[in-house]
Amino acid sequence: MHHTTRTHGLLRCLTAIAGISSIPTTWAAKSEDSIGLLYANDRDGPWYVPRAEFDAFLTNHPNATGNYPIPGPNISAPAAPSSLGNQSSVDGWSWSIVVSADMPLVNASYKPDDDGEGPFYYTGGKVTFNAPESLLGPGGNLTVDDGWQVCIFTWQINDFPYSDKLRSDDGTCTSVLSDECIADMKSEALSATVKGQCSCPIMSKIPSCERLGDVAKVFNNNCIGEFRTARSLRLWEGGKLETGAYGDAEAHHLGNNTGYDNIGSLAFPALVSFWNANTTNGILDDSLTSLSCVRAADAVEGSTAPGDAESGGIQLRTGLAGTGIVLALCMLML
Ligand SMILES: *[C@@H]1O[C@H](CO)[C@@H](O)[C@H](O)[C@H]1NC(C)=O
Ligand SMILES: *[C@@H]1O[C@H](CO)[C@@H](O)[C@H](O)[C@H]1NC(C)=O
Ligand SMILES: *[C@@H]1O[C@H](CO)[C@@H](O)[C@H](O)[C@H]1NC(C)=O
Ligand SMILES: *[C@@H]1O[C@H](CO)[C@@H](O)[C@H](O)[C@H]1NC(C)=O
Ligand SMILES: *[C@@H]1O[C@H](CO)[C@@H](O)[C@H](O)[C@H]1NC(C)=O
Ligand SMILES: *[C@@H]1O[C@H](CO)[C@@H](O)[C@H](O)[C@H]1NC(C)=O
Ligand SMILES: *[C@@H]1O[C@H](CO)[C@@H](O)[C@H](O)[C@H]1NC(C)=O
Repeated sequence: MHHTTRTHGLLRCLTAIAGISSIPTTWAAKSEDSIGLLYANDRDGPWYVPRAEFDAFLTNHPNATGNYPIPGPNISAPAAPSSLGNQSSVDGWSWSIVVSADMPLVNASYKPDDDGEGPFYYTGGKVTFNAPESLLGPGGNLTVDDGWQVCIFTWQINDFPYSDKLRSDDGTCTSVLSDECIADMKSEALSATVKGQCSCPIMSKIPSCERLGDVAKVFNNNCIGEFRTARSLRLWEGGKLETGAYGDAEAHHLGNNTGYDNIGSLAFPALVSFWNANTTNGILDDSLTSLSCVRAADAVEGSTAPGDAESGGIQLRTGLAGTGIVLALCMLML
């Protein structure tokens, strides 16, 4: 190796060690950015486990949960004309999430190859939008005035860049978004939406959000806007709508919480707006529009919350490993 190249290499190494904080970020972009999830549908859970077994396990063996109340109206009563300003809100509207660390990978039609280390498990979870129980009728279905409509926006996070700061978000998405961006996003969601169609807010068209750059990148991912009429609200079983059920795309053996810390700590962004179908543009006001980042932050008794083992442990481990590898490389160069 030529002398000057060698000096240059060594210098770069030492600079790298001094500025170590920037190294894990680059590596993190590879290892943490892309989230590998398997989604469930009505019939099959992740890994094609029977859906009923998936649901039963989450109900009976949760490790962490999250519940995030949001403002929402009394949809059993007619909507007040929008000219009156703020609609009154009733308690009980919320987003919730449940996560299990070790869901058994049995009765599945799809499984990793046997590695002789024992049975496989996977981390799984479910996100649900909940209406107030006080609005359920005698038959257990929601009582809904025909004038109400709802838009539910969710962002896809599978195979897209993820904003890791969201893993410690308090439910408001303010770990990555500014208050101004959130307010602008809500009004964009309201103004872009036309009757019968829910149009997702587009970050690149909102200057206060665009300014935030990479940290908010999850909001550039595919967003789905679901339009729900009064009629479809009445079909929600027990007044609950599941918006996503998923499992880790990587299986693990019992006692290995890597997948739990990675997949279980994800926050799922969701925006809800309520509409009055009878007004010309449907817009009420943004007091009934909310943005949430839904995360299983609360450990159930006897469990640890995902990513909690050594607070911010994922980042820390990457950082230390990074230092070790850079040091090793420098020694090789010498
Ligand atoms: C797998 O299927 C069998 C037979 O249907 C059932 O008894 C068992 O409880 C299932 N296992 C799990 C973990 O659900
Ligand atoms: C919602 O509105 C209906 C109809 O006006 C009323 O009977 C009910 O008490 C209200 N419920 C709540 C929780 O405010
Ligand atoms: C609606 O609520 C917001 C915040 O809760 C408040 O600032 C505003 O004055 C209210 N508007 C009316 C017309 O009451
Ligand atoms: C809106 O129209 C429906 C019928 O389409 C009616 O049942 C409902 O009470 C109306 N709501 C308001 C606020 O006028
Ligand atoms: C009540 O909800 C169930 C699903 O949970 C649905 O099958 C049924 O049709 C609903 N009833 C009405 C009157 O909408
Ligand atoms: C733990 O599971 C992950 C997959 O979630 C795997 O990549 C890793 O190698 C496993 N660790 C051990 C020590 O087996
Ligand atoms: C998850 O809950 C089970 C009990 O259902 C417990 O044995 C296990 O240790 C918990 N895992 C974590 C990571 O808390």
